[in-house]
Amino acid sequence: MRLLVTGGCGFIGSNFVRHVLREHAEDEVLNLDKLTYAGNPENLREVEGDPRYRFQRGDICEEEDVAQAFAWEPEAVLNFAAETHVDRSIASPEAFVRTDVLGTFRLLRAAQERGVRYVQISTDEVYGSIPEGSFREDSPLQPNSPYAASKAGADLLVRSYVMTYGLDAVIVRSSNNYGPYQYPEKVIPLFVTNLLEGRKVPLYGEGKNVRDWLFVEDNCRAIDLVLRRGETGEIYNVGGGQEKSNLALTRSILEIMGMGEECIQYVPDRPGHDLRYSVDCSKIRSLGWRPFTDFEGGLRETVRWYRENEDWWRPIKNGEFRRYYLERYGDI
Ligand code: NAD
Ligand code: TYD
Repeated sequence: MRLLVTGGCGFIGSNFVRHVLREHAEDEVLNLDKLTYAGNPENLREVEGDPRYRFQRGDICEEEDVAQAFAWEPEAVLNFAAETHVDRSIASPEAFVRTDVLGTFRLLRAAQERGVRYVQISTDEVYGSIPEGSFREDSPLQPNSPYAASKAGADLLVRSYVMTYGLDAVIVRSSNNYGPYQYPEKVIPLFVTNLLEGRKVPLYGEGKNVRDWLFVEDNCRAIDLVLRRGETGEIYNVGGGQEKSNLALTRSILEIMGMGEECIQYVPDRPGHDLRYSVDCSKIRSLGWRPFTDFEGGLRETVRWYRENEDWWRPIKNGEFRRYYLERYGDI
């Protein structure tokens, strides 16, 4: 298949591009990425020489950039491009509304005009927080952060394009991903790299919030499956089935790295901090998917990757990230 991947220089997008080129010899990929602070060409250095891969620097909000990408005549578009960090959405929400909502609209319209299959990469955060039990695909959308609200807006636009224009579109809503190439603003790479730098780890509130961790390669397999076998108009939840409180997660990281609880710095909680995310994944399981990676193994593998790839994360932490981090935490 000829696949237009947006946001392919980010964390999940770059893992997905590698996955597809590895698993499907006949597939070709055009990666449309704006290269924001989160987009890093290094993430796809190893496929740059592959004749089945090409890159276009561009913005999904700009009609001309989108038209140029669709002129390549993709058979499907997968929209990974987004502003993705909840804390940044609290500080500066506008970019989230622009890229996550307007950008999705631009891609939907182009896909509809050209009859191209559309896969929206969404998140379990659109459902909001759930104290117990799990959200199903038909649960109400109750997003609590500007990030989650922008992603929910995008999902509703996708639905409208299916219902109104008959667009062949599907949505994948996954839980928190972790693994190689994740920007070190997100909790796992932030904590691992802070510890490697000899810093403490800033744990919000009392560390009681719960996230369901999904290894990125397991999500890539799920997205690949939905791309090829998902039914038009359907939504598919994808979760790792491995719920951990942030304190338990932090303790696991400390144990793997041979460090103690004195490395934890409790910091004020995030405003509107969702207590728990949990999704019911029976629908995608009925397509034959299940996660392969257990949390302990995936976390060890992730810590090993960050240990062995300082050349990847040091420039990030000494560059754009440094000012952002110092403003938030001072010298923690
Ligand atoms: P990321 O922040 O690592 O990467 C985002 C990518 O999108 C970057 O390469 C960036 O340059 C690009 N981008 C941003 N704005 C753009 C624009 N206007 N035009 C073109 N490119 C643009 O994100 P990620 O963690 O890989 O997440 C990818 C997708 O998966 C997002 O849609 C996110 O909402 C969703 N998601 C992420 C997680 C997670 O745990 N990371 C979980 C569920 C869903
Ligand atoms: P994060 O990786 O930002 O993902 P999300 O907010 O999309 O779930 O955060 C995961 C959890 O870790 C979340 O409950 C907030 C918490 N957290 C901290 O305790 N300290 C931090 O420095 C960060 C970035 C997150």
